[in-house]
Amino acid sequence: MLIRLDKFLADAGVGTRSEVKSIIKKKAVTLNGMCVDKPEIKLNPDTDEVAVNGSSVASRGKVTYLLHKPAGYVCATEDSRFPTVMELVPQGRDLFPVGRLDKDTEGLLLITNDGAMAHRMLSPRSHVDKAYLALLDGPAESGYISLFEEGVDIGDDKLTLPSKLVICDENDPALAYLPEEYRSGLCPGQTVLLTIQEGRYHQVKRMFHAVGREVVYLKRLSFGELMLPLSLKKGEAILCDPYMPADGT
Ligand code: URA
Repeated sequence: MLIRLDKFLADAGVGTRSEVKSIIKKKAVTLNGMCVDKPEIKLNPDTDEVAVNGSSVASRGKVTYLLHKPAGYVCATEDSRFPTVMELVPQGRDLFPVGRLDKDTEGLLLITNDGAMAHRMLSPRSHVDKAYLALLDGPAESGYISLFEEGVDIGDDKLTLPSKLVICDENDPALAYLPEEYRSGLCPGQTVLLTIQEGRYHQVKRMFHAVGREVVYLKRLSFGELMLPLSLKKGEAILCDPYMPADGT
């Protein structure tokens, strides 16, 4: 069955009918690789390939947003006390957050209605890398690198899986993600990049606590192949294709 382009995009959760019309008019949409600017154009959702700003919008209604989660929002579909991340993406389409970030943690969060993709990204067996920028309450010691590589006792049945710690120097490009208010007065070694393969409760904070440091600020920069675009402001979400690597720009 053929359907109108604006209906297809609205059904896929890209925006309201009038929002998607305006996106189409801005020439941000391609149909089978060709730019289209007419909302009424017809397409076959099972065979045609539609992309918005280069990210493909899956047919059969599968949609995934990459959100720059701000602090203060909880990763839940509803909460009686705090705002939820669901308020930051278009409503409907049975969307849910892919895993959790703590209320005070910022950074890359996927919100989707694609259960199979979410399962693949979260399954402990998949060992999907998650990279975090952390600001510590004092300098990281070089000895943490081997401790984290070997696995740390954070009070669970098992040690953490091997993780990779990089102690940032002042020229580390990851520091571009550190909010302005934290940039002055830093001591050498106070900012680190930690890549873990698991998603245990408060894992990054507990790993540093286990070696005698507290995390003052935490931001997730990547999840699998997906990078948090530096240009994406806190609270903003973009459609993304979790089956295609993003370029992080
Ligand atoms: N580890 C944490 O401690 N908190 C998060 O939000 C994510 C990973």
